[in-house]
Amino acid sequence: MSFKKNQNYNQYRNQTKLVRAGLFRSEHGETSEAIFMNSGYVFNSAEEAEARFAGELEGYLYTRYGNPTVTMFEERMALFEGVEACFATASGMSAVFASLLSYLKSGDHVVSSRSLFGSCYHILDQILPRYGIVTHLIDGTDLSQWQQHITKKTKCVFLESPSNPTMEIIDIKSVAKIAHQYNALVIVDNILASPVLQKPMDLGADIIVYSGTKHIDGQGRSLGGAILSSKEHYEKHLKPFIRHTGPAISPFNAWVLLKGLETLQIRMDQHCQNALKVANYLSGHPKVEKTIYPDLKNHPQYALAKKQMLQGGSIVTFIIKGNNAFKFMNALNIFDISNNLGDTKSLVTHPATTTHRIIGEEGRKKLNIPNTMIRLSIGLEDVDDLIEDIENALKQIH
Ligand SMILES: Cc1ncc(COP(=O)(O)O)c(C=O)c1O
Repeated sequence: MSFKKNQNYNQYRNQTKLVRAGLFRSEHGETSEAIFMNSGYVFNSAEEAEARFAGELEGYLYTRYGNPTVTMFEERMALFEGVEACFATASGMSAVFASLLSYLKSGDHVVSSRSLFGSCYHILDQILPRYGIVTHLIDGTDLSQWQQHITKKTKCVFLESPSNPTMEIIDIKSVAKIAHQYNALVIVDNILASPVLQKPMDLGADIIVYSGTKHIDGQGRSLGGAILSSKEHYEKHLKPFIRHTGPAISPFNAWVLLKGLETLQIRMDQHCQNALKVANYLSGHPKVEKTIYPDLKNHPQYALAKKQMLQGGSIVTFIIKGNNAFKFMNALNIFDISNNLGDTKSLVTHPATTTHRIIGEEGRKKLNIPNTMIRLSIGLEDVDDLIEDIENALKQIH
């Protein structure tokens, strides 16, 4: 392998890092990154195998631990975020779960914002308590609640900003400041913003988790995820947990995400431009009760969103008037009904019956997710076609 390990990618700008950081080529000199589709590695002798397992010799051991294609994805992610370590996972949920379980033990306390993706909410609300971990779910937009609930018992805090699907914005810097007074670890699910729009580490986060399934792939092809942290945290907590519990990503999927990174910034920019136009269109519509988008001036945390995000992202959520959510969705021609997001194809979701079904009606009430809420993931089609599609669907509602 011709590892370009000595290349100092930090000297380059973002877009160059996204295209090239972490690249290494085999002796064949391939232009595009190679896919190493192998599960194991061979050793020249039993002594070499022993030395590699003992950490005395560098080299791969087993793809559950590491793989050259996966390493390229991890290095590109870490270099782009400006973070020391990255571990790629099989999905966003395995990243979320491993980030928590690798650190917590029975008796620990966690404080989390309540506005979370359904599966994240389920982990915090149902799964962690089963192992004796106490979780407090609070209104993350209210700093006084963080202040009240984070105590010396708190081992870590977890938050999603913007949140899926309510697009709540949490003041990451202030929450991190409170958490660090008590030495609590700050984990940020940065999936809706993507690494391009928000840099949680610069705001004080200790760990960032991603679903690569969303914008990083961005073309609906592959599941994947990533956990970013300091080298110290990775060595002490993540590495032993991950190696032996096995949430590793397939090299093929890592390759898809790696190639997705190359166009991420360009795609995000267009997603955001399109989403803002759709949000502006919807916010004036008589059949729409409320439009929620961080880059709209009437968003309750507009000023904060402007401060910590570069643009508003690809998701526009709105409340439709009357019992018309399904009618609207079924009347769309271009938008596909799907629970995924961050795709080049525009997608429409009814959170109450899909992504947030698992948390039940009571839970959804607390999260402000009514049956009239619709989530749009704005893709990369011509935005005028998208707006006409929405206009036609709204016309069909009486
Ligand atoms: C905020 C958030 N976190 C985590 C996930 C889980 O990601 P994955 O589907 O890759 O497991 C999602 C998926 O929608 C999400 O929206």
